[in-house]
Amino acid sequence: MKRGFFQPRSLVAGLIVVGLAGCGGNQDALHPASGAERSIADLWWVMLIGSAIGFGSVLFLLVLGWRRRGRKTSPPSNAKLETTLVVTLGVGIPVVVLLSLFVYSDVFVMRSTAAPTPGSTRMTIDVIGHDWWWEVRYPGTPVVTANEIHIPVGSAVNVVGTTADVIHSFWVPQLNRKIDLIPGRTNRVLLEADRPGRFRGQCSEFCGLQHAHMAVLVIAEPRARFRAWLANQEKPARPPATGEERLGLRLFQTQACAGCHTIRGTTARGTIGPDLTHLASRGTLAALTLPNTPAALRSWITDPDHAKPGVKMPALPLTGSQLDALTAYLGSLR
Ligand code: CUA
Repeated sequence: MKRGFFQPRSLVAGLIVVGLAGCGGNQDALHPASGAERSIADLWWVMLIGSAIGFGSVLFLLVLGWRRRGRKTSPPSNAKLETTLVVTLGVGIPVVVLLSLFVYSDVFVMRSTAAPTPGSTRMTIDVIGHDWWWEVRYPGTPVVTANEIHIPVGSAVNVVGTTADVIHSFWVPQLNRKIDLIPGRTNRVLLEADRPGRFRGQCSEFCGLQHAHMAVLVIAEPRARFRAWLANQEKPARPPATGEERLGLRLFQTQACAGCHTIRGTTARGTIGPDLTHLASRGTLAALTLPNTPAALRSWITDPDHAKPGVKMPALPLTGSQLDALTAYLGSLR
């Protein structure tokens, strides 16, 4: 190891770089895309500016005292005035500041980010955390998808979060606060995007080896586009059109795939892994770890552990032509 790597200056510089790397992009809590998130971002700025003023004042008094060190002090000429000053600065101001922050955050911010009550929105989506991906269900429809949540812009959506295994935390920073997905419990959060966009989220509760690769994407789109998307997702899988795709489907149903994955319209009914009925309509694989391209799909099937060490999906020992057929079939599931 190079000497000096852990010197305080390198460490501080490293922390600043890592900190700034988190700014911007489509996972930035300070670039809100909803009313709820705007109130959270406002609270953040109020806290930052308020704390900076408080910290600055304390530093100022400290420096003042340090500069005046060693000066001869005369006994207090007006003890009562000094007591009043100490009580006002040391007790009164902090109490007023903390009380106003409490009222501001607890009354205003908490209210605008409050969990929606059941049935209070026109639309509900169930999100179920798994090690290490997100199952997404649209109640009232047969639609089950994974990791990419489509919502209509300007519509309040009640996200009902549960987990299939350990504790996860669902957080889409540009849309609202986070909710924990806890075994035996149901938590809710409101998603209401006020502009179209692709908002990235992340599991924010350590849930095992691939916690960092448990990402989610909320795709907010105009109502007509959302309706078209939903209508397509409601359909069963498109039947294979070529001989190669037919072989791919046969392999899917006879190999280990069908034990874990569902493809509606086929005999594959597994529920351990993501529903693949419309896999090709998704932009990513493995909870946003890989782009959904034929090459990435191929390497994901042959060696899932390479992209996601510890993943529950086993590697499939397939010949080159079998792999061609399987990826051709999966790639046709629009
Ligand atoms: Cu799921 Cu961390």
